[in-house]
Amino acid sequence: MQNAGIADLALNWRYLAFDVPPEKLRAALDGAKVMGFVGLNLTVPHKLLALEMLDVLDESAQIWGAVNTVRFEARDAQGAWRPVREFDSIPQQIRSHGFNTDADAITRAIREEVGMELSGAKVLVLGAGGAGRTAALKLASEKPREIFLVNRTVGKAEAVAGEIASRHPGLRAQVGYPPGQVDLVVNATSVGLKPEDGLPFDESQFRLSRANAVYDMIYRPAETALLKTAKSAGCRIANGLGMLLYQGAKALELWSGRPAPLEVMRRSLEKNIYG
Ligand code: ATR
Repeated sequence: MQNAGIADLALNWRYLAFDVPPEKLRAALDGAKVMGFVGLNLTVPHKLLALEMLDVLDESAQIWGAVNTVRFEARDAQGAWRPVREFDSIPQQIRSHGFNTDADAITRAIREEVGMELSGAKVLVLGAGGAGRTAALKLASEKPREIFLVNRTVGKAEAVAGEIASRHPGLRAQVGYPPGQVDLVVNATSVGLKPEDGLPFDESQFRLSRANAVYDMIYRPAETALLKTAKSAGCRIANGLGMLLYQGAKALELWSGRPAPLEVMRRSLEKNIYG
């Protein structure tokens, strides 16, 4: 996805994957600075570990408490911080600037791919791990009418409900299954990744005939048991590919300073993931 986007923007860059053990993250970030990297992405568990290692954190990284995108920057002749891509040679003093492009990608994907307006919606979030927490907090920031949180380990859902209550005092965030109809169900659990996985919720407590739309953050397989069942129940559905696309597109925009070629990147993702 990134290399397709980079090629389309005619940038002389390459996006490469490096397997870095958590205890070497600091050394890897220092190495990237020295080698003149434009930026990088971080994945689990580095998204949290990097919070303490980066020189500055954008508001997005502070709000969501995780960093998935880093841009390297240096001072120009006037002393202003500029992305290193704007310098002809690798500057002496480089700082790392951390961003989070994951959270916005969740709501953008839901809006654009499920066609759902989140303000005023009644939402059920399944899962309260890293992805579930960010999804629930981000959805809560979109002024939904009510938000329900369900997780196998109830204490984790309660902790997220507590965070929502302190950030959005007027919002009703409840732990447990919703009564009646819901506008949107979001799966942020890992249930569905394995072929033998069933539904990520208890069917004796909730039925998909009570949901208008279902968003599954899983993108491989393209259609989980949840999405299959939701489709037969007449729900609008989308998988997590859009989230992956939008977080990557935003990262490329932060690095390049230009609009990301979304359709080129989407086609590349689809080809690489689904063949
Ligand atoms: P991520 O960063 O992808 O969110 P995670 O923090 O490990 O990963 O969270 C995985 C989520 O899937 C959690 O909500 C987890 O529930 P617990 O908090 O109870 O562990 C959920 N999950 C994983 N396996 C599950 C299973 N077999 N049944 C129900 N929920 C499951």
